[in-house]
Amino acid sequence: MSDLDRYETVASAAARDAGKLLMDRFRGRLNVSHKGITNIVTDADLEAEKLIVSRLLEDFPTHHILAEENHFEKKGGSHIWIIDPLDGTTNYAHGLPFFSVSIGLEIEGEIVFGAIYGPVMDELFIARRGQGAYCNGSPIHVSENASLNDSLLATGFPYDIRSGRNTNLEYFGEFVMRAQAIRRVGSAALDLAYLASGHFDGFWELMLQPWDCAAGTLLIREAGGLVTNFRGEPVSIYEREFLASNGLIHNDMLMILRKISALKNRA
Ligand code: IPD
Ligand code: CA
Ligand code: CA
Repeated sequence: MSDLDRYETVASAAARDAGKLLMDRFRGRLNVSHKGITNIVTDADLEAEKLIVSRLLEDFPTHHILAEENHFEKKGGSHIWIIDPLDGTTNYAHGLPFFSVSIGLEIEGEIVFGAIYGPVMDELFIARRGQGAYCNGSPIHVSENASLNDSLLATGFPYDIRSGRNTNLEYFGEFVMRAQAIRRVGSAALDLAYLASGHFDGFWELMLQPWDCAAGTLLIREAGGLVTNFRGEPVSIYEREFLASNGLIHNDMLMILRKISALKNRA
């Protein structure tokens, strides 16, 4: 068994088991606390994170953990597991069935493995660097839609929307007039998995965190799509501007992002 086989076996099982935990508690009683005015965390997020982290450290004790809900001491090694135990917490807390578990593995700055699990649909999306992207074992590919006019796009809004300057409203306002439709699903990781599967044609968001997009970035690249910042440069998951598409509508999306960014900078 190769190292990558072991990473996939352990991380996939952790993602599935965390998803099961989330389903068991879904629409039940939750303890909700606030990290910000609109940014919440539930006890289910914390339990799912604990499960995933303990599984990963059991098998890979020297690896570093970067997870949304807890800070883990940096270990100095080259392997970093990047974890969102519940992406779509707001949906989850309202009983809305759009949420996911996201686990990515970065080695020396490169994401080499990603898993996104959507427990409601029982869909496990897996990507390995250079080895393609899969949903429940079947290969997935981005869409072949070359027209922005016929495209279904996805986006999201940052939690600091009430106080931040860069709110995404201006970009949204332009794209909603240019695309076939836009969805704000509420789980960026699911958005990216569905883009990799060809259901969405494009996605953009500001202020994403590494755990929102680590696994999804690899899924999209391995499914034949493109991921950049708003200037068209290769994006790092630690940046704050994130554009992903099937590649065919990327330039059209970039043109709109550049145009709106210039207007915002002038204002
Ligand atoms: C959020 C979701 C949402 C996105 C936000 C994320 P959380 O993650 O992915 O779709 O718009 O930027 O923070 O808080 O549910 O894990
Ligand atoms: Ca998230
Ligand atoms: Ca989360």
